[in-house]
Amino acid sequence: MSQDLTIIVLAAGGGTRMKSKTMKVLHPIAGRSMIGHVLHAAVTLEPTRIVAVVGNQREQVAPHIEALVPGVVLAVQEAQDGTGHAVRMAWEALPAEARTGTVIVAYGDTPLLQGESLRAFADFHRSSADAMSILTGVVGNPTGYGRILRDADGGVQAIVEQKDTSDEQAAIREINSGILAFDADFLDAALPRIGNENANGEYYLTDTVHLAREDGRTVGAFELDDVMQTEGANDRAQLAALAAEMNQRILDAWMRAGVTIVDPTSTWIDVDVKLAADVTLLPGVQLLGATVVAEDAVIGPDSTLKDVEVGAGARVVRTHGELAVIGAGANVGPFSYLRPGTELGAGGKIGAFVETKNAQIGDGAKVPHLSYVGDATIGEGANIGAGTIFANYDGVEKHRTVIGAHAKTASNNTFVAPVTVGDGASTGAGSVIRRDVPPGSLAVTSGPQRHFDEWAQRKRAGTAQAKAAADAARRAPADPE
Ligand code: UD1
Ligand code: CA
Repeated sequence: MSQDLTIIVLAAGGGTRMKSKTMKVLHPIAGRSMIGHVLHAAVTLEPTRIVAVVGNQREQVAPHIEALVPGVVLAVQEAQDGTGHAVRMAWEALPAEARTGTVIVAYGDTPLLQGESLRAFADFHRSSADAMSILTGVVGNPTGYGRILRDADGGVQAIVEQKDTSDEQAAIREINSGILAFDADFLDAALPRIGNENANGEYYLTDTVHLAREDGRTVGAFELDDVMQTEGANDRAQLAALAAEMNQRILDAWMRAGVTIVDPTSTWIDVDVKLAADVTLLPGVQLLGATVVAEDAVIGPDSTLKDVEVGAGARVVRTHGELAVIGAGANVGPFSYLRPGTELGAGGKIGAFVETKNAQIGDGAKVPHLSYVGDATIGEGANIGAGTIFANYDGVEKHRTVIGAHAKTASNNTFVAPVTVGDGASTGAGSVIRRDVPPGSLAVTSGPQRHFDEWAQRKRAGTAQAKAAADAARRAPADPE
């Protein structure tokens, strides 16, 4: 039994029903493109080679495929003359010495396909004497699919395409998923013999079944119970249905792995996210990209985290975060915006209406209220007062602010970067810190408070403000200062 395996992925179709600038197979589901899911499944079989057939918008599709599968063989199909023609293009893209072993043909638009299903199918084919095998499924409504015709002993006779079915054949509910496996020798001999005399005038790959039978060879059928794995999306309604199905599968797997998901209908988790047991997700949470959440963390409600690492026991409420790290036991939110490069230490806090970017905030340090922290290092145990702005941009370049360990800065400060506040230093309310503050110092920049007496009566004469001021002065004349 040969282990030489070629996987051909067809992705030349136009996908016109998507009505999109973006090629169909590039539309994302659960954090990967549709074809990304298929290629990911294919790669798990460790095939000898993967061939992708591209055609429409190949300038978009080819670089995407090459980035996902280094060393992929790209075959170009200029005109979409059918699946048989597409596979011939793939075959011709291979050198003669690579046209060996087992060949699997899959489609680029079936994102639910699992590597283990492909592997079981490959094993089924390799352990048979059949020239080719069909991955089949039994569906409720077979309209649109090729139907599997079997003979009296259950052997596969033919695949009849929708447009070529008789009424009797149209009622058959066992369908061709589109995924086929071939002995390379048979495929090599069969491809040039496929004709296009059918209702569509296309070269049907499925004609290989009757060619095998003509050669006195047998054709196997491997029925996959979970037929949704081979379903494709042709328009955006089907795309949304597949996305919902995939999300449901991802959520089910995490719930079985010990994650509490309070409202699965409003929770979305990308396929590459990693969650520990005893994580709790409250309603309205989206965990995207390569987000990782450690045990006992509670996320939500209403939070979106993309490529964020959340430490054990952290609490993240109504937050939008991207490319950020949240330490163990830290508190974030509500209404926090963590931009790329945010790193919050263990037990730290980023509170309400705080935006952070490129900011390392030390263990136990807190930015509790209404602040912008950009390009900053905040030492452990430091506390940043409400309404603080880290003025990192001078209009030309960005600069850093460093706040020392256990520094306590007051409300409504501006740190004009580059500037450093030393360990254990403090600032006064309303300060605009432009010069470095030595460790342990209190820096105060706002001037002494001055009073212009009876200013309201003089400058706002005739207004309600002036009247209130005059009434108060009559009741309690001001002390001369
Ligand atoms: C095909 C099968 C049908 C099966 C169904 C499952 C054939 C003749 N029919 O029909 O038996 O039940 O899939 O979904 O194989 N493609 C190319 N180049 C082409 C034509 C198609 O790359 O010239 C690609 C498409 O991008 C798509 C896939 O092949 O990913 C299937 O093509 P499609 O035209 O959708 O085939 P169906 O008519 O659905
Ligand atoms: Ca199709």
